[in-house]
This record gives sequence, C-alpha cells and structure tokens, in this order.
Amino acid sequence: MALLELNNVHTYYGHIHALKGISVTVEQGEIVTLIGSNGAGKSTTLRTISGLLTPRHGQVMLAGKRIDRVPPHDIVHMGISHSPEGRRIFPNLSVMENLELGAYIHSAYSPEFEDDLDRVLTMFPRLRERIRQKGGTLSGGEQQMLAIGRALMSRPRVLLLDEPSMGLAPVIVEQIFEIIQDINRQGTTILLVEQNALMSLSIAHRGYVLQSGEIVLEDSARNLQENETVQKAYLGVD
Ligand SMILES: Nc1ncnc2c1ncn2[C@@H]1O[C@H](COP(=O)(O)OP(=O)(O)OP(=O)(O)O)[C@@H](O)[C@H]1O
Ligand SMILES: [Mg+2]
Repeated sequence: MALLELNNVHTYYGHIHALKGISVTVEQGEIVTLIGSNGAGKSTTLRTISGLLTPRHGQVMLAGKRIDRVPPHDIVHMGISHSPEGRRIFPNLSVMENLELGAYIHSAYSPEFEDDLDRVLTMFPRLRERIRQKGGTLSGGEQQMLAIGRALMSRPRVLLLDEPSMGLAPVIVEQIFEIIQDINRQGTTILLVEQNALMSLSIAHRGYVLQSGEIVLEDSARNLQENETVQKAYLGVD
C-alpha cells in the first residue's frame, strides 16, 4: 500500500476545472517530484492533499485511509505537513514563534517539542543564530528554511514542499536541496513541487509531469531527465 495516494482526483475553483482526474502515488521513504509549468495545477494538488481544497471527485488516501473530507488541522495530526508556495511565514513573529506555531499538535514545551526544535535547529543552524529575529527580516533563503523548519515541527510522515527554490540564488537552492535530501534520509517521505525540474529531478526518486491539470508523464527521475519532451519543455535543453 502506498503511503500517499491520489486516485482520479478532480479539483475545481468554482467553474475552473484545475485538476482533471490525476492519480499519483508516493511510497514510504520516497522523494517524488511533481513538475510542470505555471498554472499546471501543482499547488492545487498540494492544497487538495492537505485539505485546503476538497476534490469534487476521486480519493486522497494516507496509508489506506481516506482523507479527502478531513479538515486541514486533522490532516496535520494524521502526519501530513505542507510548506506552501511563497513561504508563508509570519513576518512579525520571531523565528522561535514561527516554529512554535508549526508544533501546535504537541503541547507547548513538551519533551517532543524540545526534541523537534533541536532537530530543526541542528538542520538549520542559521535559524538557531536568528531565533529571536522577526521572520520578515530574514533573507529569502532563511525564510525558506524557516518555512520548511516550521513544517517539520509537527513531525510529519509526509512533507509537501511547494517550490522551495523560488526566488533563491543557485547556491542557496543547492543548500536547501541538500537539506531536503537529509530530511528524506532521516525517514520523511517527500512530495516536492518544482518549476526547477533540473534540481528536483536530481534529488527525486520518481516524478510526474503535470500539464493543464493532467498527468502527462510519470517515470523514474532518471528516465524523466533523459526524456526528450521533458528536456525541451522543462530542462531548457534544445
Ligand atoms: N484561488 C483560485 N481561484 C481560481 N482559480 C485558481 C485559484 N488558484 C489557482 N487557480 C487556477 O488553477 C490552475 C492551477 O493553478 P496552480 O496554482 O495549482 O498552478 P501551479 O502549477 O502551482 O502554477 P505555478 O507554477 O505558477 O505556481 C490555474 O489555471 C490557476 O489560474
Ligand atoms: Mg504553484
């Protein structure tokens, strides 16, 4: 049984048919990437998994249990955490307060909280140095680290990452992607949405290509890297 499974999912915004029957599986321990251009439906897919949107047809399953009618906060409790597009951190709250909000499923200052905080700050030493600084005064890369760190504070089984490379310099993107790999090696399953297909295919095990709300290709990351259509459309290869 896959850890996460989307089965023929259709999601709408009013009359806009954004996901047109997509099926995606993510096995325990994998990094799976969803690539596609602007408006393809990548963020909509993550919002549908985390319960922010309810699909009109189809099912979303976590470890065999249907979650597509479960409210978002209960989905966090069940083990799915979402780091949204555009790093929605709280600019007027400190780094520490942002991390505390991510940990809301544990009682504050419980032993779990201290352990999780230490794990996140070890992963992101820059956040430890800036623990009292306001989120809004962090650099773009640091804000992305905070967004990922906050998502990790609920100890997710599945981490949903929406465009962690957006707006960051290549050297920072490399660092963030190394950390994503570390998070995965430590046991967290990852669904990674990216426009930067070059980077995401370099760390993913498998991938899906989404186009206008439909999955048009699915394969191992290596095969996708070598696929001519993917190279032309998403890897900038002529
Ligand atoms: N709140 C909304 N209301 C109406 N339509 C929306 C809304 N959010 C997204 N859409 C539409 O749904 C489709 C998929 O959008 P989505 O944000 O999932 O794309 P994406 O693949 O994440 O794109 P990007 O790479 O630009 O982030 C687009 O056509 C978009 O215009
Ligand atoms: Mg998006």
